[in-house]
Amino acid sequence: MAENIKLQVMRGDASGAKMVTYEVPPVPGMVVLDALHYIQANIDSTLACRWNCKAAKCGSCSAEINGKPSLLCKSRVDTFGGGPIEVGPLRTFPLIKDLVTDVSWNFRVSRKIPSLTLAPDAPNPLIMHQIDVDRIQEFRKCIECFLCQDVCHVLRDHDRKDGFFGPRQMIKLASLDMHPYDDVNRREQLKGEGGIGYCNITKCCTEVCPEHIHITDNGIIPMKERVVDDYFDPIKKLINIVVEKKKPLRPGGAPPASTSGGAVKSVK
Ligand code: SF4
Ligand code: SF4
Ligand code: FES
Repeated sequence: MAENIKLQVMRGDASGAKMVTYEVPPVPGMVVLDALHYIQANIDSTLACRWNCKAAKCGSCSAEINGKPSLLCKSRVDTFGGGPIEVGPLRTFPLIKDLVTDVSWNFRVSRKIPSLTLAPDAPNPLIMHQIDVDRIQEFRKCIECFLCQDVCHVLRDHDRKDGFFGPRQMIKLASLDMHPYDDVNRREQLKGEGGIGYCNITKCCTEVCPEHIHITDNGIIPMKERVVDDYFDPIKKLINIVVEKKKPLRPGGAPPASTSGGAVKSVK
């Protein structure tokens, strides 16, 4: 019979926490969340962890496994070799109990971002080129697990929640800014309270994203370029002051497909 799996699970709350070791009988295909459920059902029912779908789609079961931000329901126990598997809460957010953290800051930041606002002359029905749909669609795969927020050193090590929205919100802003019919100037917020300048493109966020979103390459870097174009390119800056540039919407039809920099945005 196969050996029991050893888990070291963080137990405690904001007043103090420590690792507690458990042994769980293995089951083929078992994920770390299954092992935690076994502990809850058979060893200690007070163990707290958050989960919902068990299908890597709700983003609730985020934690750190052997120090790496991971989804508990997407991490098979047999991928960790023979040693004990360390399971802890997300370190970037305040601990509530055991593996449950308070991630509400992320939702408060999300609410600061204005929703999609269609330009008054947007065609009806809204027709978009497939290239524009594809560009935005990648960002809309986000399940709001906040693993990227957890790993980002600006938030994790420097605790700059006061000055940086974090990678999840960077791609939310990118998905809106790259929408060919959105009429809001997103770059002011990105440069200001969003703090895009804090990101130094380490790509750690991309590495942990369970949806494999190219957060940095397809989201943050293009948005940095747009902010630089708007605010630091002297010629563009001058043009922006003199002319309010409008997106060239096609009457009754689709806008021009975007090129490398994405859809043309109005700059206010
Ligand atoms: S690339 Fe930027 S947002 Fe992503 S983890 Fe690094 S600093 Fe944070
Ligand atoms: S971008 Fe990826 S890692 Fe970040 S919250 Fe969305 S799904 Fe999670
Ligand atoms: S339980 Fe839904 S993502 Fe893991």
